[in-house]
Amino acid sequence: MQDDAEGKSQSLVRLADELHVVRQIQRLLERRLGARAEVRDAAALSAAEAAALEALPAGARGISAGRLIASPVRLAGGLIGEVRASARPDTDARDLEFIGDLVEVLAEELGLAATERRVDALIEAPTRYAYDDLIGTSAPIRALQRLLDKVIDSDSTVLVQGENGTGKELIARAIHFNSRRATHRFVVQNCSAFNDNLLDSELFGHQKGAFTGAIADKQGLFELADRGTFFLDEIGDMSPSLQVKVLRVIQEGTFTAVGDTLSRHVDVRLIAATHRDLRRMVDRGEFREDLFYRVNVINLVVPALRERREDIPLLVDHFLSRTTRARRAGKRPRLSRACLDRLTAHDWPGNVRELENEIERLVVLAGEARVIGEELLSPRIVARVPSGVPGDGAIRSLPEARASVERDLIAEVLIRHRWNKTRAAAELGISRRNLIRKVDRYKLQPRYRARPRAPRS
Ligand SMILES: Nc1ncnc2c1ncn2[C@@H]1O[C@H](COP(=O)(O)OP(=O)(O)O)[C@@H](O)[C@H]1O
Ligand SMILES: [Mg+2]
Repeated sequence: MQDDAEGKSQSLVRLADELHVVRQIQRLLERRLGARAEVRDAAALSAAEAAALEALPAGARGISAGRLIASPVRLAGGLIGEVRASARPDTDARDLEFIGDLVEVLAEELGLAATERRVDALIEAPTRYAYDDLIGTSAPIRALQRLLDKVIDSDSTVLVQGENGTGKELIARAIHFNSRRATHRFVVQNCSAFNDNLLDSELFGHQKGAFTGAIADKQGLFELADRGTFFLDEIGDMSPSLQVKVLRVIQEGTFTAVGDTLSRHVDVRLIAATHRDLRRMVDRGEFREDLFYRVNVINLVVPALRERREDIPLLVDHFLSRTTRARRAGKRPRLSRACLDRLTAHDWPGNVRELENEIERLVVLAGEARVIGEELLSPRIVARVPSGVPGDGAIRSLPEARASVERDLIAEVLIRHRWNKTRAAAELGISRRNLIRKVDRYKLQPRYRARPRAPRS
């Protein structure tokens, strides 16, 4: 497992090698302090290591165990790797502190460099997406897993269809990170995110001067994905002219950058996804038939969550553990029978993503409670449960509804600001004192308060 993970995405390691300042600091650490600093990709971390780094509270910049000091490298909040250094046994406390500072500088520097490089922003490193993360034992999920086994090692184009939040991207990642392309990039682009021209230059790149504002040559995403996998999300939203270009990449492996005359060659595996019925779009003339057949070589249909309700308790369990771990909240709470029943009965229009958010919200609202009751559920979940379940948690009056919305919003903003009340109050547009009053009234509590800094040594 470890060997396997080491072989996978080496993006951060590669980035570190390219950065002069990083090499300088590494040399300094080694020569002056006798500590060897090493950069590791998230993919190379064990699950326990990744969890420990991810669970670091706000303001804590690293962890240390004896002579080993590690700092997380983050990109857009997500863990993409670590910098770690081990000090010699005779290192004194002051030097240890200094090594810690340098390790943090390295981690910060790498995080910044990764952010600056659009390239690296699009690289997904963690093997966490390997497919034991695809939770579910229902017949449709088992069938999907069996199909994945067969799909992994081929280079065929895959079309993943399913409603929003069903796990289409998770599946695409599972395919990539278990395939022989795993050491190369997994690039994601959502086709509904940009207008046509921008998407064209995003996907295929452009030449300097191709249009106003094209001040330099820009490499397109298809080129970045060379030898890796391209996940083209919401392909049903793509314009006819871009459909032609994508068809050509799939058929011939060639494309032309905007403003360029030469065509370039790439070796990319394409995984496309959509929540739309592409077949119907073809019938209505809204999607090219030839592209449809090219994309639809292997078709994976991800069922809506309401079509596999037996997976709900498993998913709840999975998200409860994950949220508790991420918030370092100690013992994991459990849901009351009634609460779980309501979750199982809900229709989940937002599918797994909606369930995931609901569990996070419940864990926060539960505070120190060991058992989470149904009264904490979002109003819409209580309200949409089919009749037969008495609506004792339901909202009956306007003041109740207002209070419920207010409570949810406050909880959400507080979490986002890690319970920094000054910042949360500013975002909510109320005074800090007023916020504190409301927090008291709604009995909101953080499950755990961030410590300023993890202890060293
Ligand atoms: N079977 C599953 N097991 C565990 N987590 C899942 C599963 N399906 C989806 N998720 C989670 O739900 C969220 C939404 O999944 P995503 O792949 O982004 O959906 P989609 O691309 O279909 O909108 C993600 O956080 C994902 O990790
Ligand atoms: Mg998606």
